[in-house]
Amino acid sequence: MRLSGITALITGAGSGLGEAVARHLSSKGVQCGLIDLNDEGVNRVATDLEAIAVTADVTDPDAIRSAINVIEDALGPIRIIVNCAGIAPGAKLVGREGAHDLDLFRKTIEINLVGAFNVMRLAAERMVGYDEVDGERGVIINTASIAAWEGQIGQAAYAASKGGVASLTLPLSRELARSAIRVMAIAPGIMETPMIAAMSDKVKEALVEKSLHPKRLGQPEEFASLVAHICENAFLNGSTIRLDGSVRLS
Ligand SMILES: NC(=O)c1ccc[n+]([C@@H]2O[C@H](COP(=O)([O-])OP(=O)(O)OC[C@H]3O[C@@H](n4cnc5c(N)ncnc54)[C@H](O)[C@@H]3O)[C@@H](O)[C@H]2O)c1
Repeated sequence: MRLSGITALITGAGSGLGEAVARHLSSKGVQCGLIDLNDEGVNRVATDLEAIAVTADVTDPDAIRSAINVIEDALGPIRIIVNCAGIAPGAKLVGREGAHDLDLFRKTIEINLVGAFNVMRLAAERMVGYDEVDGERGVIINTASIAAWEGQIGQAAYAASKGGVASLTLPLSRELARSAIRVMAIAPGIMETPMIAAMSDKVKEALVEKSLHPKRLGQPEEFASLVAHICENAFLNGSTIRLDGSVRLS
């Protein structure tokens, strides 16, 4: 899919990976509709990029339906959907303060998995009705994590949510193939974003130490450039791509 002049919807666009995707796609001539719960963040990015900002919770059906209306009305058919909104709380099944908070488990699944699904179902409902351009209608890219396969202690909820994101890639790409819509996921390793900034230097160094090459954190721009490549490369469909400098968490 040629990028210039088409429209993308990006969630979690007020920070980190979503912000980098918005900046990169925008630099390639994509018109961006940005969604985030963080009003200040999403408006800051949208102002820089002359993009459309909508403050909305990805888990809220009405808010997302109306965000899609706003973006489509302003920018036309949404041909790229990139789901980056997410949270990464840590908690053990049985920690110092007792059993894992069930609401925290539910919240993690709700935002990371149900939220991405909510955006996909409502945006894809529109996408299937668009005309094809260069043999396809659009592309959906979700953000999984290497924790889907290598979750560490304390990451049960996060790993389960990201395992769900990785698992729905193939069935949705099968379903949407007849509509010429591709579905992909990216499973990043440890990327240098505000989500990771909260970790101590010691923890970050220990994670970097597990990488083979290059021995450093991933950069949000590397994620964004893979998103752009997936959009442009029509033969990528139904897979989850690791972007991790060969790190294997243990
Ligand atoms: N940073 C990493 O190392 C890493 C690694 C693997 C996967 N990921 C995933 O990448 C995605 C982006 O993470 P990031 O590192 O950029 O984090 P980040 O905290 O910088 O950005 C996440 C954004 O999502 C938004 N958000 C959270 N809940 C929301 C909701 N309910 N509705 C709308 N927006 C919401 C936040 O406001 C924030 O702006 C997440 O799904 C995360 O799990 C990150």
